[in-house]
Amino acid sequence: MAFFRKEKNPPASSSGIAPAKGKLGVMIPGMGAVATTFVAGVEAVRKGYAKPIGSLTQMGTIRLGKRTDGNSPLINKFVPLAQLDDLVFTGWDIFTDDMYTAGRKAGVLENELLDKVKPFLKTVKPRKAVFDRHYVKKLDGTNVKKGKNKRDLAEQLRADIRDFRRKSGADRLVMIWCGSTEIFLRPGEAHSSLAKFEKAMEKNDVAIAPSMLYAYAALMEGVPFANGAPNLTVDLPVMHELSRKNNAPICGKDFKTGQTMMKTVLAPAFKARMLGLSGWYSTNILGNRDGEVLDDPESFKTKEESKLGVLEHILQPEMYPDLYGNIFHKVRINYYPPRGDNKEGWDNIDIFGWLGYPMQVKLDFLCRDSILAAPIVLDLILFLDLAQRSPELSGIGIQEWLSFYFKSPMTAPGLYPEHDLFIQSMKLKNTLRHLKGEQLITHLGLEYYD
Ligand SMILES: NC(=O)c1ccc[n+]([C@@H]2O[C@H](COP(=O)([O-])OP(=O)(O)OC[C@H]3O[C@@H](n4cnc5c(N)ncnc54)[C@H](O)[C@@H]3O)[C@@H](O)[C@H]2O)c1
Repeated sequence: MAFFRKEKNPPASSSGIAPAKGKLGVMIPGMGAVATTFVAGVEAVRKGYAKPIGSLTQMGTIRLGKRTDGNSPLINKFVPLAQLDDLVFTGWDIFTDDMYTAGRKAGVLENELLDKVKPFLKTVKPRKAVFDRHYVKKLDGTNVKKGKNKRDLAEQLRADIRDFRRKSGADRLVMIWCGSTEIFLRPGEAHSSLAKFEKAMEKNDVAIAPSMLYAYAALMEGVPFANGAPNLTVDLPVMHELSRKNNAPICGKDFKTGQTMMKTVLAPAFKARMLGLSGWYSTNILGNRDGEVLDDPESFKTKEESKLGVLEHILQPEMYPDLYGNIFHKVRINYYPPRGDNKEGWDNIDIFGWLGYPMQVKLDFLCRDSILAAPIVLDLILFLDLAQRSPELSGIGIQEWLSFYFKSPMTAPGLYPEHDLFIQSMKLKNTLRHLKGEQLITHLGLEYYD
């Protein structure tokens, strides 16, 4: 498939990427199923108990040069990434459970594996969270900071960041939001500039959700931030401004794990073959705490928006009205405790072909939510850290090349996001090639027939 127009490759960049020296501190607001599965997994891999399956940075290769060159190094060897042994962790949560106890409660990993890494997990204890039930109706906890206003709370988070930097001896930091899905919010006046945002924090403006305070704190401290939830968080002019100003790259939002990953594989296939689509009904049953939070209509709305945008962008109904002008797209998430983290996602897809004849595709994905999310968390941390060490990327704010990992990829204002998983994969790998001054791969391939 030729994804790229024939064009001259841009001049080789002089790389200039700073080496990944010393420790990388990972800070995680939200120590639930995803975060514990990720941290326990990193330790299990470090100890040699398991393999980092699903992680592009750990298992992926990147082809360089022609197909006939046979040169496909590991990504990990090609660009200077932090090594797993160099990762140190901290987190925040409204519950007081350390990573071991939280991991046991999440019920994703087997007790036998958790027990093997217990001494390490016990050392990762939650800092007091910034939390407000207004934004996550279904949860309540006691491990919560008090402050005179939102700005004061944000300052406390900044103090936590500095404290972690000092105590852990980390040379560099990254923050990744693995906290709950907040209620649906829209960008507004309060988010339009740094001055307005800071004023709004002082006035406890309801437009400012806790996740935004974490992001603000991180960016003010020059720490890159990734948003794993569908929350508004860094999708705001104020955050773009701060990110660029402080050379702290940002990316988001909403980890692309199960059903949406499949959607962004299948929809481009239908479109590539000019097959029509009349309806796509997606339903999920899920029984973890995330499922419980999403049982609240206001949090579900945030998730729904994130999941719905995908088809519209991939199929471009305005360009193909005969094929995609009249699609019925529905997404449902049903909280069903017996399944725990083992989600089941069903898709019924009504397509049509030659002369309009209808066909159906049924997809039943019995997946494990956090098992799919954990390697994404790892890759995002390592790539955001790389971005901050890369002169070409550190000051640009949004890292669109990391779209590969998100349901609602962030883009520069006015630019539509690329949702097709393979375009995203190509974009990511070509960015790495570009950073290292390698030829981009266009898949044109005419040179083999000279
Ligand atoms: N697992 C997946 O496949 C997947 C995919 C995409 C997005 N996500 C998102 O990732 C997030 C985490 O998912 P999960 O399954 O680990 O959920 P979870 O409910 O197990 O964990 C979330 C944790 O965040 C904590 N929390 C909530 N608000 C907080 C705050 N303000 N500060 C600190 N901690 C806070 C909760 O107490 C909880 O422990 C959710 O928003 C989810 O929608 C998950």
